[in-house]
Formats: sequence, C-alpha cells, structure tokens
Amino acid sequence: IHDIILDTDFSMPPQDDALATIVALNSPKINVLGITTVAGNNSLEQATVDLLRFLEIVKREDVPVFVGSNMPLVHEVSDFAKSTWGKWWSDEPPSMPLGGFPKKKAERQSAVDFMVNTVINRPQEITIVAIGPLTNVAKAIRQHPDFAKSVKEIIVMGGAIATLPDGAGNATPNAEFNFWVDPEAARVVLRSGIPITLSPLNVSRKTKGSETWYEKVVSVNTPVTSLLKQTMGPEFEKDPEFIDLMYDQVAIMSLIYPDIVKTVDLYVDVDINHGINYGTSVGWDGIWPGAEGAKKIKVQYDLDWKKFIDLFIKEVSRPPIT
Ligand code: BDR
Ligand code: CA
Repeated sequence: IHDIILDTDFSMPPQDDALATIVALNSPKINVLGITTVAGNNSLEQATVDLLRFLEIVKREDVPVFVGSNMPLVHEVSDFAKSTWGKWWSDEPPSMPLGGFPKKKAERQSAVDFMVNTVINRPQEITIVAIGPLTNVAKAIRQHPDFAKSVKEIIVMGGAIATLPDGAGNATPNAEFNFWVDPEAARVVLRSGIPITLSPLNVSRKTKGSETWYEKVVSVNTPVTSLLKQTMGPEFEKDPEFIDLMYDQVAIMSLIYPDIVKTVDLYVDVDINHGINYGTSVGWDGIWPGAEGAKKIKVQYDLDWKKFIDLFIKEVSRPPIT
C-alpha cells in the first residue's frame, strides 16, 4: 500500500485532477494521508472550495485538506497569462461549487507544513503525487534540510520532452502548463535529488478521451459515478468527443500499475530564463552545458492504452471503501 500526499490544482469533474483524485481515493493500494491544494487550473481558493465540496459529495469527509500556495514562487502573473487558459491566479471570490459551498473545512496547518512534518516523521515511507504546479513541493524542499532526502518518491504530472516523440508544449509551443505556471518550482523539485517519475505530455498523448469508458463507469452506481453522471453526462450530450487527453490520471494510475507505462531514464531540467521558452522542460541522456545541476529521473513516454483504460474503468467504478 502506498501512503501518499496528493498535491492538486483541483477542479470538479470532468477535470482530470478530480478523476485522478477519484482513483487515489478508490484504490485499495493507495492510502491518501491528505490532499494539498495549489493555484493552477483554478485559483487557490476555488481549488480548495471545490475539493472540500467534492469530498462531501463522494462521502470522503474523512480525508484532510491542507491549503497551499496562492502564487508561483518567483514571477508575477502577467495579464497575458491571466487571459489564457486556467484560472491560476484570480482575486475574485470563489464561485459556488456544485450543490453549494462546503461545510467541511480545510485543516489549520498549511500544505507545506503538512508535507514537511508528515515526510520527516516517516522517512522513506511517503510518496507525493503532484498533479498541479510544483509550488508547494518546492517550498517544502526549501523549508527543511531533511525533506528531500526523506521523501520516498514523487510522481509528477508535468513537462513535455522534445527529445522524445509527442513532446510539444500545451501552454506555450514548448512548455507544459504545470511547469509553465511555476518554472522555478519545477526546477527546484527536479534538481532536488528526490527519486522522481515524470508523467509528461508525451505519455498523456497516448491516451484518448471517449464516451465508452464513461458509459461503463456510470453503469455502476456509487456516489462517485453519480457525480460523474451529473457533471459529465450533459457535456457528452453536447459533444461525444468533449474529453481531451488524460493527464493527471496517468500519473496516479502508474503508481498503482507501473507496468502500464514505459519509462526511460533522462536528465531533465527546466528553462527559467524569462524568454520565449520560460517553463520549458528539456530532457537528455547526458548533462549539457547550463544544466550541470540536473538529475537523472524516470520519464514516462508510452502506455498500453487498452490495459490502462480497462484498469481505469475498474478503479473509478469501484464501490466506496468504508
Ligand atoms: C496539466 O495541466 C492541467 O490542465 C492538468 O490538470 C494537468 O495537470 C496538463 O498540462
Ligand atoms: Ca492538474
């Protein structure tokens, strides 16, 4: 059983963070110690409110939620970034999530303190699954000298590796969204020496969204599947192709089923120069000039789609663990 901390820029389904969270909560092979929120797809407040409400709807109020970082480590959020996809920074109050504002409250301890304390108290036992910008994890690394050496493993959804097939960016031509939101944080984490498995866009692009898995999932009746019916059903009615690729789902599924993905060991670093490639990840099988501090990590680049989707359906439609 993997004891994990899930770090997410959460939004309600059909967004991928929610589907990955469902897998984490449903799988008997995963024990979610806590969920930490970060600004990304959503503002921090909206991510937290959505997550708390989501846990009520799926009857998992037992899972503690810790509020994380509101802004990236270093850079100012440009007007351009605010107007592109993602509400990763917003000073607007959160809008009401499905079914009303949550009664469940977040914990008083901050996300970063929770990460640090949990990991330090149980060295080599905790896995972090990070499916949003890496601001919280980078701060935890900066906060405690023993944090990095005490983490068992981190699985990160982020980056796009141009030296492997399907390696274009999605936020900019070369940069993937999570890394682009907080490039310095991504660099701190990748250079930390923590054992890392990266789930970049290259492997996300081996997935396909489809109505078929949705139909199979909602043929079983659980609190999770009825939430999916409510949130995804109307979208499918408008457009049977509305789901894009699976991103965060691959990261969490690969923790439970490492055999469904292929990985290669590469040195990976992130461009933090404020130019056209800000936030771009670069991977190679050796060190190159300027990347002297880069570490070798595992990079996922392919996946067995048929196996993946069958197992994904199984995990999402599992009866709740009580
Ligand atoms: C990543 O960005 C977000 O939109 C997704 O949730 C995923 O974590 C993909 O680039
Ligand atoms: Ca995400």
